[in-house]
Amino acid sequence: VHPASPPIDVARARADTPGCLDLIHFNNAGAALPTTAALRAQIEHLELEARIGGYEAHDAVADRIQGIYDSVARLVNGAPTEVALATSNTAALDLFVYSLSWSEGDRILTTQSEYGANYVAYLHIAARTGAVVEVVPNNEVGELDVEALKRMIDDRVKLISVNHVPTNGGLVNPVAAIGKVAKAHGITYLVDACQSAGQIPLDVEEIGCDALTATGRKFIRAPRGTGFLWVRQAVLETIDPITIDHDAATWTSPTTYELKPDASRFEVWEKGWAGLLGLGAAVDYALDLGVDAIEARITEVSDSLRERLTNEVPDAVVRDLGSTRCGIVTFTLGDRDLGALTQELQEKGINVSVVPPGSALLDSEARDLPPLMRASLHIYNTHDEIDALISALS
Ligand SMILES: Cc1ncc(COP(=O)(O)O)c(C=O)c1O
Repeated sequence: VHPASPPIDVARARADTPGCLDLIHFNNAGAALPTTAALRAQIEHLELEARIGGYEAHDAVADRIQGIYDSVARLVNGAPTEVALATSNTAALDLFVYSLSWSEGDRILTTQSEYGANYVAYLHIAARTGAVVEVVPNNEVGELDVEALKRMIDDRVKLISVNHVPTNGGLVNPVAAIGKVAKAHGITYLVDACQSAGQIPLDVEEIGCDALTATGRKFIRAPRGTGFLWVRQAVLETIDPITIDHDAATWTSPTTYELKPDASRFEVWEKGWAGLLGLGAAVDYALDLGVDAIEARITEVSDSLRERLTNEVPDAVVRDLGSTRCGIVTFTLGDRDLGALTQELQEKGINVSVVPPGSALLDSEARDLPPLMRASLHIYNTHDEIDALISALS
């Protein structure tokens, strides 16, 4: 990776991250450590609400609230009016997929590595509407096989919905190549960027997707309970949201309403603005550094961890798939009890996590995967921290 932005100043990144003082955090795919700026943005807004009132505080920071939409739009290279703020990836994704108009026999094509929350929503839609869910096979390196996707296309394919990066490994799916297939056939295309947003540069034009979802708390380093849905303007105009309120639609007469012309048709009026201002601050921090530089740093440390696990830790087997691998490193350690080990590591001040097979059930079954230990790295993780993990595991 050759970033155009200057390389990450790791000492500075750590100084900007209060959590780095106390612990070694390798659970960034769970929830990453926030910057001081993201933390302050939340606290200051909560204090303002307490001092002057919640509605009044909203009005007082109206410009900064607009700034959240502008920043998220820059993160994905879309327009601010195409951004709906949400509470999580799942909330954003569900709103989009449930809002499509489904008919019996419609086909949903997805990935073997699809996340549990997404997959059960597709199954739920299928059970309610007669749509069918089908999985595009992987290619020889474990990415969604674009040639196989092409062979599966017919006029019943209503939605292609894929993760960019799965929950259970460093795999990066070929989202732009998938986008070309979707576009050639005029099929609605949704990308779950939950694990890629904030660690891999995103460009909805290059990807060619119609909708993209993300959560705040992972690689974007925003507060919990935040996320967003981006929907292309030409597509959102055609979608009748599954639920609305009088912010998503204007109540025009006792018997009529008019949906908003932009992505606000996917929002509800009430929001946790402190958290969302934290999201805005976190996105701004990433944009200031350059997501290309963030990706380069994450690639450097995560490749180093993979290599060291393989070479230095007895019984460690790295389970990541794909031709390019990102900041999520998953591995097994013989028949060690990973839950107990995670607890032991946490007592030593090292956070990792365990991915249960049910998080990505199809992939776990296809590869016969037990629970996986997951170490997910961010820019503030250092080679010294990797030393500490390797020696604790060894
Ligand atoms: C690939 C992927 N998609 C979706 C989600 C769901 O995100 P959220 O918990 O914000 O709804 C996750 C969470 O781990 C994930 O890893």
